[in-house]
Amino acid sequence: MTNRLFLTTAATVLAVSGLLGAAAPATPVGTKGAAGAGDPLLPLSGDGGLHVRHYALTLAYQPATQHLEATAVLSATATQDLSGFDLDLAGLDVRHVTVDGEAVPFSRDGQKLQISLADTVADGADFTVAVDYGGTPHPVIDTDGTSDGWTALPGDQGAFVAGEPQGAMTWFPCNGHPSDKSTYDVTVTVPQGYTAVSNGVLRTQHTAAGHSTFHWHETAPMAAYLATASVGRFDVRQYWSGRLPVYTAVDPAEKNDADGVLARLPAVIAWESSLFGPYPFDAAGAIVMHDKAIGYALETQTRPLYDEAPDMDTLVHETAHQWFGDSVTITQWKDIWLNEGFATYAEWMWDAAHGGTGLHARLAQLYARPATDQLWAYPPGDPGQLSRLFGVPSYARGAMALQELREAVGDQAFFGILKQWTAAHRHGHGTTAQFEALSAGVSGKNLDALFATWLYSAGKPTKM
Ligand code: TRP
Ligand code: ZN
Repeated sequence: MTNRLFLTTAATVLAVSGLLGAAAPATPVGTKGAAGAGDPLLPLSGDGGLHVRHYALTLAYQPATQHLEATAVLSATATQDLSGFDLDLAGLDVRHVTVDGEAVPFSRDGQKLQISLADTVADGADFTVAVDYGGTPHPVIDTDGTSDGWTALPGDQGAFVAGEPQGAMTWFPCNGHPSDKSTYDVTVTVPQGYTAVSNGVLRTQHTAAGHSTFHWHETAPMAAYLATASVGRFDVRQYWSGRLPVYTAVDPAEKNDADGVLARLPAVIAWESSLFGPYPFDAAGAIVMHDKAIGYALETQTRPLYDEAPDMDTLVHETAHQWFGDSVTITQWKDIWLNEGFATYAEWMWDAAHGGTGLHARLAQLYARPATDQLWAYPPGDPGQLSRLFGVPSYARGAMALQELREAVGDQAFFGILKQWTAAHRHGHGTTAQFEALSAGVSGKNLDALFATWLYSAGKPTKM
C-alpha cells in the first residue's frame, strides 16, 4: 500500500507517450467499427463495433532475449454491420491476420491494428480473428514514470505483466477497453525452470525438450486490463481452500516476507465473502515479484500481482477488487472510484476489525486535512483527466463517500447495498449512476445531496 499511495500522490501529470497519443483515426472502409469505445479519458482504447467473447492466446517467451512469439485467436461478435474493425496493439510485428480462416489486409496506425474485411460481417454475427505476431514487448510509459503493460525484468529474470489502464495492448491484440469482457485461454511456453502464471485455473502443465508450457483458463468474463502472463523462476504453491484452488507464485527473494501474509489469503477471502457476497471466481492466488518495476500492485483477475511481498492492507485491497473492479467492472474510466474507493474501504474495515482505527474516526481524521490537501484535488466521481485516475481522491475520498453512505443509511442497508451490487452486476458491469440508484432503492432514502457532495463537488466539502 505504501508504494501505491506514494506513487499515486506523486502522479501529477500522466500524459500518454507521443507514440500512443498521436495515432490518427483510421480511414473508414465502408462501415467500420467506431474508432475507440467512446471513453473520453482513453479515446483510442477499444472498438465499439465488436464484442470479443473469448481470447485464445498462445505465447512463447524467452526471458534472456525478451522475445515474444504469439498467436491470438479472438472469437468475436459484431455489434453493428462491419466492413472492418480495429484492435489495440502497441508495438510488436504483425505477420498475418485471418478472419474466419481467410487472410485479410491489415495496417498499423499508432496503437491501432486496422483490419479490413472482404465481406461485411452483419450485426450480431460471430466471426474469428487470428493474429500471428511477435517481437519485444514494451510497456506503455507515461510521462510521470508510471507504466503498464508487458514489463521485462532485468537480465533473464522474466516479465511482469500488469495492464491497467491500457497495457493489455502491449502483449496481445485486443478490444482494450473495460466495457468489453471476455473469457480467456492463455498458453505460455517458457524455458524450463521458469513458470508462466496467468488468470484462472491451470489446466495443464508439461515440460519437454527444455521448455515448459502452462495452459491457463479463465472461465469468467474478464476485462483485458486484468489479464496477465507473468514469467519468473517462482516458488509455486498449490492447495485447496475448501473448493477453491489456490495457486501462488512467489519470487524466492520475497518468500520470507510474503509467506506469512499469503497464508492469510483464504481468511481474507472468507471475511470479504461475508461482507460482499460469494467470492466471484473459481480460482484464487497471487503473483509476487521481486523487482519493483512498476511501483504498484494490480488486481489481475483471480490472481493479483504484487511487485514485492504484500502487506496485509495490500492483500485485503487487491482481494476486494475481485468483487469491485473484476467481477463488477466499470464501463468508463471516470468511474474508477467504484474500484479504488471500495477496495480502500475494505482496507479500512479490515483495520477496524483488527484493532485499528474505527471507521468514523478514520473519516474524521481524513476530513481534518486542510483544503489544500491532495485528498480534495478532484471529485472522485469525475476525475476529468487520465492523469488523476489513481490519485488520492479515487482511493481515500471514494472510501469516505462509502462511510458517509453507511452513516446515512445504517449498517443493515449499507451491507445490503454492497451485496446486491455484487450480485446484480456479477461478471458484468456497473456504473456510478446505477450504484446511486441501488443505494436509494435499498435504503429508501433520497441520497442525491450525499452523492453530489462526496462524489461530484470540487474541493473539500463544507461539512462531514
Ligand atoms: N489498480 C491498482 C490498485 O490500486 C493500482 C494501479 C493500477 C495504478 N495502475 C496504476 C497506480 C497506475 C498508479 C498508476 O490496486
Ligand atoms: Zn486498487
